[in-house]
Amino acid sequence: MPCPALPDGFDFTDPDLLHHRVPLPEFAELRRAEPVRWIPQPPNLAGFQDEGYWAVTRHADVRYVSTHPELFSSSLNTAIIRFNDHIERDAIDAQRLILLNMDPPEHTRVRQIVQRGFTPRAIRALEQRLRDRALAIVGSARAHSGPFDFVTEVACELPLQAIAELIGIPQDDRVKIFEWSNRMIAYDDPEYAITEEVGAESATELISYAMNMAADRKQCPAKDIVSTLVAAEDEGNLGSDEFGFFVLMLSVAGNETTRNAITHGMHAFLTHPEQWELYKRTRPATTAEEIVRWATPVVSFQRTATQDTELGGKRIRKGDRVGLFYASANHDPEVFANPDDFDITRDPNPHLGFGGGGPHYCLGKSLAVLEIDLIFHAIADAMPDLSLVGDPRRLRSAWINGVKELQVDAG
Ligand code: HEM
Repeated sequence: MPCPALPDGFDFTDPDLLHHRVPLPEFAELRRAEPVRWIPQPPNLAGFQDEGYWAVTRHADVRYVSTHPELFSSSLNTAIIRFNDHIERDAIDAQRLILLNMDPPEHTRVRQIVQRGFTPRAIRALEQRLRDRALAIVGSARAHSGPFDFVTEVACELPLQAIAELIGIPQDDRVKIFEWSNRMIAYDDPEYAITEEVGAESATELISYAMNMAADRKQCPAKDIVSTLVAAEDEGNLGSDEFGFFVLMLSVAGNETTRNAITHGMHAFLTHPEQWELYKRTRPATTAEEIVRWATPVVSFQRTATQDTELGGKRIRKGDRVGLFYASANHDPEVFANPDDFDITRDPNPHLGFGGGGPHYCLGKSLAVLEIDLIFHAIADAMPDLSLVGDPRRLRSAWINGVKELQVDAG
């Protein structure tokens, strides 16, 4: 049965639509009436291209697609970042070096290697330094005598520092790494005046930087994560180019996502004062997961069908694109009681904000949760009376639920 509430030509990947209101009421309508729906219009999301795609909106179906990589491929027809030519591979090959764009068995091989950098031990080793960073970030924001922008003053810094710490980027190089990362992900929004070319240039420079870093460590191994991932030239380690693309992916996957989770979390607290009071009193360990569920910083990812199959009663043809709408799955009333409520004690919370549980499940989840916890602990201690000044300004993007500016006052 067609979905009555959706006009023809409705496009979930239209940045102008998504950046205004997540969760979209249209998601609820689709989940109810047509949970797997063909959206025929040429969408704006890079990689979906022109034939259209299936919008998958129910929790169970998003999980199903995510956990069946043999039916729904990540490597076919994907494009996340654009590059410059002098990377010495054509753009398609370059995309294939990115973990998110790989399928088993290649994905399994690379993921097993890079996972070594994300063990609980590796993350615990960063905790004290990140806690100090979080305290310093909140401390300098606190020094403002009037309103300030929470995004630039608080939410931006910790995710970048966390990635830099994880990889071991020297302090002096961090500013340029941060600039490249920010430029790479911002070009969807015209306000930033960053062209695709500048985005591609930044991606290329970041990769070259990381490749040089890897080459250095191959020559002179140290006791750091880069050396662990690249030291020996055998099957069990990454080549310098693979490492370069891995760093690129971390800068994209771990940066804006966590920044937006922190910003949305703050906004959610300030618009739900009873939850902020509860947080300050009890600091529930379930908080970070609820922020990610409620806001869903990554709205959707895509897959491509490897063969004819069926999903939600629809016939999916080989080669069809499938959009996994985490933002919808996370508000599915079949799974979550009162799904639109922001409830930091929600437990269990089987949200799909970090992916649908398949092989691509977010590698940085523990790091992201740690960062969110550390920053809100610091804010609750140092700026307990923070208040909102006006509305957030949202990012224009088809797949990131982002906030560009959030004016607050520490009082
Ligand atoms: C993958 C969300 C933070 C690294 C993903 C996926 C999502 C996601 C939705 C795709 C899962 C799939 O396709 O099944 C988020 C959110 C974050 C966050 C919402 C913050 C709140 C991070 C951080 C890092 C990171 C901090 C690392 C520093 C990755 C990587 C992948 C990934 C490497 C690809 C994994 C693979 O393809 O095997 N993330 N992420 N993420 N994320 Fe995160």
